[in-house]
Amino acid sequence: MFDQPYYYNYDLTYRLMKKNAEELVPSFSLIDFYNKELRFRIKEIFPHRLSVLELGCGQGSLFNALPEENAEVLGVDLSTTAIEEAKKSQRSLGTNSFSYLCADACLLNLNQKFQFVFDAHTLHCLCYSEERAKYLKSAYEHTADSGFFALETMVAHKRMDFEEGYYFREEEGVLYKEVDDEPYVGLRTFYGRRYMPLRSIRRSHEIEEELFKAGFKIVFFMVLSGYKVIYDEKRVKALQGDPDLLRVICRKI
Ligand SMILES: C[S@@+](CC[C@H](N)C(=O)[O-])C[C@H]1O[C@@H](n2cnc3c(N)ncnc32)[C@H](O)[C@@H]1O
Repeated sequence: MFDQPYYYNYDLTYRLMKKNAEELVPSFSLIDFYNKELRFRIKEIFPHRLSVLELGCGQGSLFNALPEENAEVLGVDLSTTAIEEAKKSQRSLGTNSFSYLCADACLLNLNQKFQFVFDAHTLHCLCYSEERAKYLKSAYEHTADSGFFALETMVAHKRMDFEEGYYFREEEGVLYKEVDDEPYVGLRTFYGRRYMPLRSIRRSHEIEEELFKAGFKIVFFMVLSGYKVIYDEKRVKALQGDPDLLRVICRKI
């Protein structure tokens, strides 16, 4: 049971990827973030084995691309298809420091805390304020004392521009994608057309406020100039009108 009906659409995307035999590509930008900004901060506090909770791990943990980290990782995703694929590929890699769980991160209650909680591009998939607050609260509850929570997320700027078939509802900060009714769920109607909630694109000060309300202390907060986040999975080239990229590192202190 999920917090929001439209969450079922994520599993649908993974089922289509599986059917089309599309390959898993690790997020280079999250790995770059880890290498440049996170590793040295985390190692200073937790120099030995690192416990990691990866939220929205998709078809496999990013830490597979960071083998030197000596990390014990729990990857969580709400897509059953993605989690099955993650478990399958992990078995073929033969390491036992990775485990995977199919769950809604907004409703997570693991009774376990992690030195590092990594939002693997999930916050901007949570479109509405209430679920985002639950998600950030859950991230906070699962972060160990002195631990880190980090995220990379889409952030709004003044010159955003969206392609045909997308509708950005500025008053909500939600980007919608026009789709056919079947097989999607949780759709909304605007101007006689059917749309699926796709991404949340907030202003930087709103994201700062959300993190603060969840209880985190922000230690790094940077909008990367020249970096864009592509919202259309079919496009490979970024456009000036695409949302900017925000990187944030928080501590639980
Ligand atoms: C943009 S994808 C990123 C996937 C992967 N981390 C990557 O970098 O390729 C966001 C992921 O978050 C998952 N997701 C969305 N909402 C979620 C929720 N409430 N709980 C857990 N996972 C969620 C989606 O199923 C999807 O796999």
